[in-house]
Amino acid sequence: MKISIPKGTKDILPGEIEKYKYIQKVYANLLENFGFKQIRFPVFEHTELFQRGVGDTTDIVQKEMYTFKDKAGRSITLRPEGTASVVRSYIENGMSSYPQPIKLYYDITAYRYENVQKGRYREFNQLGAEVLGSDSPNADVEILNMLNYFFSKLGVQGLKLHVNSIGCKVCRTKYNEMLKEFFADKLDNMCEDCKQRYIKNPMRLIDCKQEKCSVISKDAPMLIDNLCDSCKEHFENVIRGLDEMNTPYIINKRIVRGLDYYVRTVFEFIAEGIGAQDTVCAGGRYDGLVEELGGTDTPGIGFAMGLERLISTLEKSGFVLPYEKNPVIFIAYIGEKAYKVARKIANELRINGIYCEIDINDRSLKAQLKFADKKNALYNVVLGENEIDTNKAIIKNMSTQEIKEVSIDSITKRIIENKI
Ligand code: HAM
Repeated sequence: MKISIPKGTKDILPGEIEKYKYIQKVYANLLENFGFKQIRFPVFEHTELFQRGVGDTTDIVQKEMYTFKDKAGRSITLRPEGTASVVRSYIENGMSSYPQPIKLYYDITAYRYENVQKGRYREFNQLGAEVLGSDSPNADVEILNMLNYFFSKLGVQGLKLHVNSIGCKVCRTKYNEMLKEFFADKLDNMCEDCKQRYIKNPMRLIDCKQEKCSVISKDAPMLIDNLCDSCKEHFENVIRGLDEMNTPYIINKRIVRGLDYYVRTVFEFIAEGIGAQDTVCAGGRYDGLVEELGGTDTPGIGFAMGLERLISTLEKSGFVLPYEKNPVIFIAYIGEKAYKVARKIANELRINGIYCEIDINDRSLKAQLKFADKKNALYNVVLGENEIDTNKAIIKNMSTQEIKEVSIDSITKRIIENKI
């Protein structure tokens, strides 16, 4: 029986993978210029890390985690995101004793048992970064400015930065009371999830996407209008910094984010025209998370972007991402003697950084040339006994059809020096 791929996952094949590699390279280069270093962490962690880190009341922890018992009976979870793991690693590896802030970036797969739709998968790729050890609004501005530059460098169009502040614990406690009062007599007309949110995390009532709920929450008090003095000042400084760096933004009072660790600045880069799952990149501040996970009180801020969504947005912008590389030369041969020479040339070219194709399936010359056609090499050459004996071969430029006679022992040098 045929075995098919699990729902919500996909193979990334040649032709598609080049897009990922291109974006990952631009990302890594840019982040390193901003002083970030790469971190890798495990695909799975103790379940408790996400329960405490991401938060017990979140959709991720309540509904979406891939959790299982290992052979020793420990509860293990496939990472649904990267922030909790980076913070665990920061604490576990004593990074608080290094010069602060610590700037780390990552390139990961993540796992969430979600309802699958366009732009929403059960295994997906995230590029993310975290800054630990700075509570200054300058850190927020630096990150947003960097992201803005990254997206424009890639040529993404129609992506807008939405920012908000969701305050600290102090302002949030007061605000939750205000929300409870506002929604108390409206709950009967709201969805089941909102009834739960009312009890567990009233702030999430603001970002319910269901029409009947968003109509009601439209007139609810907004946290940004009820910040404490210190959170207000932080947000004003972020906005001032964005203005000074000419980073465009929209203040969106309804951005509250679905993960429990956020405080103060939260943001999303939202794309136009890629469907319902239009948040390409999201993040914010999480000043209490290191302490929550057992470290010393350390502020933090970060973001993550979904590569699948970013690629859709780029393609929507008309950007042609790099595709599969074609070989520079295809070396065909007739007979064993010619094969040995052809193999040597192919090997020399390859170790000198040239992409070269040669048949390894003992095919006839006709079949080799048919295969060469499919590989779309820039040049073709055929080596037979006669060519080997006279040290002469014909190289054909497959796009101009031009042919040239060259000595066999000069092929490697000519190709490397691009002097055919
Ligand atoms: P998040 O909003 O859960 O935040 O995910 C960040 C991004 O990952 C989303 O904006 C989206 O592009 C992508 N994404 C999330 N779920 C899926 C999915 N099921 N399929 C495809 N793409 C998806 C976080 O993960 C935080 N850790 C971000 C962060 C870092 N905050 C602070 N530091």
